[in-house]
Amino acid sequence: MSDTLTFIEANLGRFREELYDFLRIPSISAKSEFDAETARSAQWLAERMAAAGLEVEVLPTEGHPVVLGEWRGAGPDAPTVLIYGHYDVQPPEPLQLWTSPPFEPTERDGRIYARGSADDKGQLYMHVKALEAHLATSGSLPVNVVVLAEGEEEIGSPNLVPFVDANVERLACDVVVISDTGMFAEGLPSLLFSLRGLAYFEIHVHGARSDLHSGEFGGALKNPGNVLSQIIASLHDDQGRIAIPGFYDDVLEWDTTTREQIAALPHSDEEFRESLELGALAGEQGFGTLERLWIRPTCDVNGLLCGYTEEGAKTVLPNHAMAKVSFRLVPQQSDANVKELLEAHLREVTPAGVTVELKELHGGRPWKASVEGPYFQAAAEALEEAFGTKPVPMGGGGSIPIVVEFEERLDAPALLVGFSLPGCNLHAPDEWLSVENFEKGIGSLAILYEKLGATGG
Ligand code: BES
Ligand code: MN
Ligand code: MN
Repeated sequence: MSDTLTFIEANLGRFREELYDFLRIPSISAKSEFDAETARSAQWLAERMAAAGLEVEVLPTEGHPVVLGEWRGAGPDAPTVLIYGHYDVQPPEPLQLWTSPPFEPTERDGRIYARGSADDKGQLYMHVKALEAHLATSGSLPVNVVVLAEGEEEIGSPNLVPFVDANVERLACDVVVISDTGMFAEGLPSLLFSLRGLAYFEIHVHGARSDLHSGEFGGALKNPGNVLSQIIASLHDDQGRIAIPGFYDDVLEWDTTTREQIAALPHSDEEFRESLELGALAGEQGFGTLERLWIRPTCDVNGLLCGYTEEGAKTVLPNHAMAKVSFRLVPQQSDANVKELLEAHLREVTPAGVTVELKELHGGRPWKASVEGPYFQAAAEALEEAFGTKPVPMGGGGSIPIVVEFEERLDAPALLVGFSLPGCNLHAPDEWLSVENFEKGIGSLAILYEKLGATGG
């Protein structure tokens, strides 16, 4: 094991250069004009995985390809680990807010700035390098491994469930390991106990046959902009709770142990508020900020479109208004059920004189970890060895919809061990990854495979 860690230290400079090459490829899954780059990113990754010693295939899907790497030399008695990550990234816009260009990785103050550095190329690559370190130093791995890297996570993984279903035997494993989340604080390794799900919609309100003069017609008919505002306002009550009837029926009340663990974390509302440059925080009453972020659901407008928004005044009644509205979900809610509840609510609150149309964009179910058992224990020990301090439990406010689907379809628990840091600007300008965490992450994962191997499957 010490050879493996020495190898990582000695090769860190090269690992970083390679990561920079990966980050230079603009694999923006959401934009079809970048399809060739996204495919190139998959090829690049496949070559690096093969160079590390895995058997690799780039498998087409209806969308962006899946890169699958395998190493099964540890034998039938060793556990099989499925490592999942994504090589696609979010669009980088607005470009003018980046200090250095998003696809020209640049190091400043111990941070690697680039789109995808933290989410998720940098973290996915940590796994590839940890595997390489084992294979290069001992010629083998302590576990059997299947690496699955997808190129559509940032667009809701539309083709991954069918891929998993078509390849259940090939993906069969004892445990799933994912590094696509963060640590609670610098120097404080973390293990996730949950992820929120997602239900994302467009609400369209349609009115008259066309836009109309607001003096000639105003006062005689419903304005879709006004109605959409009322609909949005109807989604919350004055306690910050979501006011859709039945919405909380499936919301899990978390156990006191988890709530105590959350309360024990070194968090300051004041510092959090100041870091966001806000006068006040807000949210559902009766819950602390971390609880609101991790174990309570939300409903948020993500975008609005209506009427005249350019320079100056135009007196017009728009005949169409649209809001993008997403819900973050917690166990045991499902996106399918939330859609039904929202449909019923919209029927209830829509006045005569407009029609409302609900379009579903994408969804994903929430996840709750099984925080006991040998694999979770192995992860806790590996993080402690690499960081010199015990990991803390934390929740994930974001969503990785495939996690729960893996667990159910492959009948294996997922371990979420992430290395990005608070403030690392996921999905925003100036996304970064700490150089120190890149190194410690690779070390942690190398130790983790070793410890997973020792569990005996
Ligand atoms: N890596 C994130 C998910 C994440 C971020 C989990 C921070 C926990 C903490 C992932 O790439 C992501 O951005 N997921 C999307 C969902 C997807 C369906 C578009 C998200 O959470 O918005
Ligand atoms: Mn991600
Ligand atoms: Mn993301």
